Amino acid sequence: MPIRAVDLIRKKRDGHELSRTEIDTFVGDFTSGKIPDYQASAWLMAALIRGLSRAETAALTDAMLHSGEILDLSEFVQCKVDKHSTGGVGDKTSLVLAPLAAAAGLVVPMISGRGLGHTGGTLDKLESIPGFKVNLPLPDFLRILRVCGCCMIGQTAEIAPADRKLYALRDVTGTVESPYLICASIMSKKLAEGIDGLVLDVKTGSGAFMKKEEDAVFLAELMVETGERMGKKVVALITDMDQPLGRYVGNSLEVIETLQILRNEGPADLRELSLELAAWMFVLGDVTSTVDEGKHKAERLIKSGQALEKFRHMVELQGADARVIDDPTLLPRSQHTMEVPASGAGWIASIACESVGTACVILGGGREKKEDSVDPSVGLVLHKKVGDSVKAGESLCTIHYNSESRAARAREMILQSYQLSDQPPLSRRTLVHRIIDHLQKGGS
Ligand code: URA
Repeated sequence: MPIRAVDLIRKKRDGHELSRTEIDTFVGDFTSGKIPDYQASAWLMAALIRGLSRAETAALTDAMLHSGEILDLSEFVQCKVDKHSTGGVGDKTSLVLAPLAAAAGLVVPMISGRGLGHTGGTLDKLESIPGFKVNLPLPDFLRILRVCGCCMIGQTAEIAPADRKLYALRDVTGTVESPYLICASIMSKKLAEGIDGLVLDVKTGSGAFMKKEEDAVFLAELMVETGERMGKKVVALITDMDQPLGRYVGNSLEVIETLQILRNEGPADLRELSLELAAWMFVLGDVTSTVDEGKHKAERLIKSGQALEKFRHMVELQGADARVIDDPTLLPRSQHTMEVPASGAGWIASIACESVGTACVILGGGREKKEDSVDPSVGLVLHKKVGDSVKAGESLCTIHYNSESRAARAREMILQSYQLSDQPPLSRRTLVHRIIDHLQKGGS
């Protein structure tokens, strides 16, 4: 008897466990187009509400991984290491890390995603660089890895095609925030890369999919376990997303901030997290034996300009106009800007981070429907972050926009997302909350 999609939906809806064969059928039939979007959406919603067992999560990850090819990178003698974030606002660390790790001698075959919900996507950021190609055929991907050590692309038709389709659907059907679906999505594409090690940046806080730390830890454990089951070295860092990372949110704006970090400038939080994640990539890739050594090495590679030169090389090889590296004014720029003044004086007590991400989506920097294209030029530059003092009328943020009505909506959201207090905050939240390192690789 053929397995029918409606029966898989009902079974999950009623809280029963699907067999490996049933999950294989769902993934295979959806990828080939036999199961339409509306049935897949219904199944995803049932899975989000009911959850998946460990066996179902493993079966889903495997089915998505085997929906395409697994890269054979055995020709590279160097360690192949990647990092992946569960998604945040203003998180451009991937753009810093790929060239930084390649400058340290690692091979970084990075396959990334687009913006999801209120969070930004690495591919959308890269595509804001005029000419940058993220849809490269695999032979080109391999050629660039050989020449440059890093290459950043999207899922090709060959790599985890099931995730590519499911990811786009989840983005617009409210089915992102399931640890099981996130685990299968991230791990299927990362395991397809043929890597030896993976650093996971699992975000927690108001701008993360996992708002509560215990949920982020649960997801991190699930992914570390999945990676280890496949024989990979995996660590997860639980990191803060209670306010945007850095000051720039929006595609071309985030490329500008990436360039600042690679020039040894830019905001302290983005720099600190980039160094920490790079250090873990170095440890997993046997470049350094401790995280502290790794951070020093990362700093040296930035100060010497080697990481920036790697970025330039990768940008050129991926077909883009590398003049943007020295002249970021060549990146897309919005037609207008508008300041958002503070309504009173005090200290910034909190920023509703998801609302900042949503404000960027409203401006056109992300997608509200699957078919939407993103406007690379729009976004936000935050002048005030948690703990900063502010005078009445001082600008909290500059909105970069192309549509007056969208800017008005974004302005309202930004104003509401800033909470002021008449006292300075007692302590600052740390950036790295916890490290899940079963391998005990971190050292001292
Ligand atoms: N990033 C991914 O690649 N997939 C998800 O499901 C969430 C974040």
